[in-house]
Amino acid sequence: MKPAVLVTGGTGYIGSHTAVELINSGFDVISADNLHNSEAWINERIGMITGKTPILEIADICDTARVDDLFRKYPAIKAVIHFAAYKAVGESVEKPLEYYRNNILSTINLLEMMKKYGTAHIVFSSSCTVYGQPDVLPVTEESPLKQAASPYGNTKKICEDIIKDSASAYSDINAVSLRYFNPIGAHSSGLIGELPRGVPENLVPFITQTAIGLRDELKVFGNDYDTPDGTCIRDYLHVSDLAIAHVKAVERLLNGRNKASYEVFNLGAGKGVSVMEAIKSFERVSGVKLKYRITGRRHGDIEKIWADPSLANRELGWKTIYTLDDAMKSAWQWEIKLREMR
Ligand code: UD1
Repeated sequence: MKPAVLVTGGTGYIGSHTAVELINSGFDVISADNLHNSEAWINERIGMITGKTPILEIADICDTARVDDLFRKYPAIKAVIHFAAYKAVGESVEKPLEYYRNNILSTINLLEMMKKYGTAHIVFSSSCTVYGQPDVLPVTEESPLKQAASPYGNTKKICEDIIKDSASAYSDINAVSLRYFNPIGAHSSGLIGELPRGVPENLVPFITQTAIGLRDELKVFGNDYDTPDGTCIRDYLHVSDLAIAHVKAVERLLNGRNKASYEVFNLGAGKGVSVMEAIKSFERVSGVKLKYRITGRRHGDIEKIWADPSLANRELGWKTIYTLDDAMKSAWQWEIKLREMR
């Protein structure tokens, strides 16, 4: 019998895909989400995919008493995966206090209740944003961390520190921070995927919304970077690959295979892809000619970054399976299904 995992932000983009993979691996999932940036029906979709609908608790993780209730109500919780957070970089610059309060308080609440109820294990949803523009590529976990370019990025760095200090001080807390590069794509069933509210900030949902006619054109933010085609380079990985890494991290903690009370892993494909290459991949798999225009650089964008994922390959026994084309194809299938629902 496998234990239950509390997934905060379990109806969100990465949370929902992770819930699927946890259930497929035999875990019970208790999902806690305030639906700030997601929809309750996603939880039903997880049930359709896996045959087992997670328990969904509509809960704000910043509400200490509510988090206390969750741990009291579900003693089967043996590990936490913490996704629930605000994530819009631009918005975080305009509303820093909301971002600091939401992202940091939720993390502290979870750690305090884990201590109170004797839940030892937490996997934290971090980001490669903590590296800023690295001097040396690819980025390893030893690469220096840079001052974050946005309050959002800073919350990831601060939460990592809070978790690291807690794991070091309290012998009953073990933690893994997973630093994601650029997750894209959707589940192969086409039943769950990214659900941006309003105008998407991220590249792939903007591409698919442009291709389906919701947006006039994609703005390519700059082609004067020091890269082969002048556009920025990122390390895109399929969200289902990313989800599986969370299952591996939870299993590592539950089985006591972690080598320290706090560990960090980069999660990427290990390959740099430019914005133009991403567009070409989309056009190739969808058969749609994308309308795009080169515009000025986006403030705060870094030029190029990609991961050295060898630590995760070795220690978690994880590597990406899906290609860029697979991910683009799944994102396009999801966009088409969404249009049928709109
Ligand atoms: C961004 C955040 C990152 C965060 C992640 C969460 C910044 C600087 N970084 O990553 O901290 O963890 O989102 O999702 O904001 N692009 C276009 N046109 C568009 C949208 C994007 O050309 O309309 C380009 C960007 O310049 C970039 C690439 O596409 O080169 C990827 O952009 P995006 O999907 O927003 O991700 P990041 O900026 O890498």
